[in-house]
Amino acid sequence: MRFTKVFAAATLALSGVSASPVTVTFDLIGILGFDLTEGNKYNSPIPPWLHGSKPGWYYGNNPFAYKDLPCLVGIICKILKFFPYALQCPTPPHNPPPPPNDGYTQTFSNITGATQADDFQTFGLVDTVEQCKAMCNSVQGCNFVNSYHDVNGKGGSTQLTCSLFTKCHDASTADNRGGQSQPDGSIDFIINSDGWCKNGVPISDPQ
Ligand SMILES: *[C@@H]1O[C@H](CO)[C@@H](O)[C@H](O)[C@H]1NC(C)=O
Repeated sequence: MRFTKVFAAATLALSGVSASPVTVTFDLIGILGFDLTEGNKYNSPIPPWLHGSKPGWYYGNNPFAYKDLPCLVGIICKILKFFPYALQCPTPPHNPPPPPNDGYTQTFSNITGATQADDFQTFGLVDTVEQCKAMCNSVQGCNFVNSYHDVNGKGGSTQLTCSLFTKCHDASTADNRGGQSQPDGSIDFIINSDGWCKNGVPISDPQ
């Protein structure tokens, strides 16, 4: 049944018949159970610095630990290819070692604040900084990666939070220091926050 729906939706998308985008989006949500489109910030409609936010996706080597998130591996990647406007699985990063020039320049390193800015695109969980950059490479318009450990946050996940932005930022807008009460009563805080800008993209003026 699920596969019938996949192929029905794919036919609509590929043949270009006058299916309204709404219908196709509904099919994508119907198939995956998640809204991985840009309008929904790729399943993370609330940015990470606001209360109630949740990662929109997981990209890494431990998908079974994140069964409640869309994990960008395997069959999901194949299904997403039928929906080019939705989030796509990244091309895996070189691992190890990353090439000396991977297309990014570091703008800040190992600080205790995370970027908050209006050009936020989406956020999820990854295992490594390289995987976060690979996610940025697969999201249209992404120019900036902020990876960090949200200690006590994200349901206690020890994975890196990976936030993506369209503009590049320096440490001046990395002023989300956590401070959100968690369901278990703890307060979250940010460590190991790194910023990476695509080479050649200017730093945006502080907001
Ligand atoms: C990051 O900063 C912390 C706290 O100052 C320090 O203990 C840690 O070694 C640093 N990590 C790196 C990779 O520099």
